[in-house]
Amino acid sequence: MTRILGIETSCDETGIAVVADGTRILANEVASQIDMHAEFGGVVPELASRQHIRCITQLVDKALVDAGSEPGDIAAVAVTNGPGLMGALLVGVCFGKALAYAWDKPFVPVHHIEGHIYSAFLTDTPPEFPFLTLVVSGGHSCLIWCEAPHVYRLLGATRDDAVGESFDKVARLLGLPYPGGPSIQKAAENGNPEACAFPRAMTQNDSLDFSFSGLKTAVLYRLREGGVAQEDVAASFQAAAVDALLIKTRLAVQQTGAQRLVLAGGVAANKLLRTRLTEELDIPVCMPSFQLCVDNGAMIAAAGYSRFKHGFVGDARTRPYPGLQLV
Ligand code: KG4
Ligand code: ZN
Repeated sequence: MTRILGIETSCDETGIAVVADGTRILANEVASQIDMHAEFGGVVPELASRQHIRCITQLVDKALVDAGSEPGDIAAVAVTNGPGLMGALLVGVCFGKALAYAWDKPFVPVHHIEGHIYSAFLTDTPPEFPFLTLVVSGGHSCLIWCEAPHVYRLLGATRDDAVGESFDKVARLLGLPYPGGPSIQKAAENGNPEACAFPRAMTQNDSLDFSFSGLKTAVLYRLREGGVAQEDVAASFQAAAVDALLIKTRLAVQQTGAQRLVLAGGVAANKLLRTRLTEELDIPVCMPSFQLCVDNGAMIAAAGYSRFKHGFVGDARTRPYPGLQLV
């Protein structure tokens, strides 16, 4: 059994996990900072870094106990080294490098999006290569062709806001709490998704790129007009955002002939998106559990296991890159 310690600190969750053979979670500790940042309506980078520093040591200790593991049982230390907030990434990377050095284990840097993709390997139905992935998070919205382990082709990406970012911004316009995704989903439960005719941008062409900033502006203008209920705007916005994701994903399936889809990233926790993809695509969709969709250390350990197995290890010179590209 190969056990990997996974460390995720790229944004506002400190995630520490121990995963066996890239597929079995032995421990998955996540300390969310949402309450701390909610007061400010979004993530405050400096506060995020300081909070990671405060809790990372205890979380590693707890994860090792949960996993029934000693440092000697760990084969490698995998850490998110980008993209993300510089200060937040620095905490995980410095801590991970120090642990790897002290334990005399390899240090494996992992791209955050690759972590989200590999959360699929922690499900009961892991995908076989090649497969298509829809990554939808606070920082990314993209369709990625996963040809083989660590061989990716970017098929399309957002030209402006990420879809999670648009949920967060629209929630703010509606006076709903941060993070916007769960609050909009909740408000939308009682709303009419056809109340407002919001745009589905870029859906009239063959490109696999997305655009969500026009949708956010349309919500702003509609709210300025007034006379509309909060839950109706929330439901109509959610319907438009999910529609746009569905239209482009269906097109990507047609263009690639994909036989399976992986849905990953924080927005993959959205119930409407999950239901519609399952019901309306003709191919199996692998969807990690809600806990594995949002940022966590287990997905980094899963990706780290594969990187380690394929010989992609780092060293003391490995540094964090806030704008790290996957492809
Ligand atoms: O992957 P993630 O935890 O962090 C990033 O890598 O960005 O994603 C966070 C994003 C936030 O924008 C949040 O509003 C969104 O995921 N999100 C959701 C839901 N839960 C979280 N969006 C829509 N519906 C949800 N249920
Ligand atoms: Zn993420």
